[in-house]
Amino acid sequence: MRVMAVMNYKGGVGKTTLTANLGAVAAKRGFRVLLLDLDPQTNLTFSFFSIEEWHNRLKDNCTIRKWYDAEVPGRDVSLADLIVTPERVNKTFRDSGGRLDLISSHLGLIDIDLELAARLGGTTTIDGSKRKFLDLHSCLRGALTKDDFPDYDLVLIDCAPNFGLVTKTAIVACDRILVPAKADYLSTLGLDYLVGNCANLVEQFNDYVNHKDGTTRYRPITPEFLGVVFTMVQIYSQQVTAAQQMYIQEVLANSAVPVLDNKIRNSPRHFGDSGEGGVPAMVRGNGTDEVTREFDHLADEVLGGLAMSSAGRR
Ligand SMILES: Nc1ncnc2c1ncn2[C@@H]1O[C@H](COP(=O)(O)OP(=O)(O)OP(=O)(O)O)[C@@H](O)[C@H]1O
Ligand SMILES: [Mg+2]
Repeated sequence: MRVMAVMNYKGGVGKTTLTANLGAVAAKRGFRVLLLDLDPQTNLTFSFFSIEEWHNRLKDNCTIRKWYDAEVPGRDVSLADLIVTPERVNKTFRDSGGRLDLISSHLGLIDIDLELAARLGGTTTIDGSKRKFLDLHSCLRGALTKDDFPDYDLVLIDCAPNFGLVTKTAIVACDRILVPAKADYLSTLGLDYLVGNCANLVEQFNDYVNHKDGTTRYRPITPEFLGVVFTMVQIYSQQVTAAQQMYIQEVLANSAVPVLDNKIRNSPRHFGDSGEGGVPAMVRGNGTDEVTREFDHLADEVLGGLAMSSAGRR
């Protein structure tokens, strides 16, 4: 099972749109995909469920908030019990053998995130605080790798645009990190902070694992950046505009993160409302238009980077 976190500090760069469409395309290719919405804004969830469906079926008992809301996340509820299968999107690739499941989010996750972070304090011994750090940060990793957790080919985690504790649990849980970014000054400026903060987290986690007091419960983590994918790219006459090309070159030349060859163009017609009817745009049509073909190449590149066959599962 591959686990990939989709993240960027910067808001509105296309993280959720990419997660929803990539997950749907992978499922259409026959893969078993789980989407995990870790953003209290709940946009990924609403890409597949209407607000009414979420209120009636999910809000009270079936969101990730319920899972994180415990002394140690997951103590009171099993992650597997929160999995739901959005029907409309799954109908569009019924014959592929693939499947798209989701764990939905909840606005209340904001408060839980703050409470979890506060819980890191309050332990007086050094060993105690290291153990608490490892317990909290590895909670999601532990749940996804439990023997009785359903078998998926790919888990995609849509992170909130912050580096709170919930986002950190996603980094500890993942093998790869995908970073959507707009080709503009502010979006590219934050990339090095993101890389630096992830490296610090990994270093601290592994340091604590290595200094633990004789138990073998935790293993070192090695999440890697799959790359930056530029989104909402302005294309005129088949070319990226000169201004955006400048920012892309800047990242190519100076950033520690690789840049994916494929990009997502700005297309409000396709992505302006990615959840229209509960079916992401990239699996909605017959797949012949230019934007859908471009996205398919991006999916090839990402799945290839995860060592998954771009041709699909079968
Ligand atoms: N390629 C695109 N072309 C046009 N519009 C897009 C594209 N990708 C995303 N959008 C639109 O841009 C807005 C922001 O996208 P999205 O919600 O995916 O970003 P995000 O990074 O997840 O935001 P947040 O940080 O708030 O979670 C949405 O209205 C979405 O419909
Ligand atoms: Mg989002």
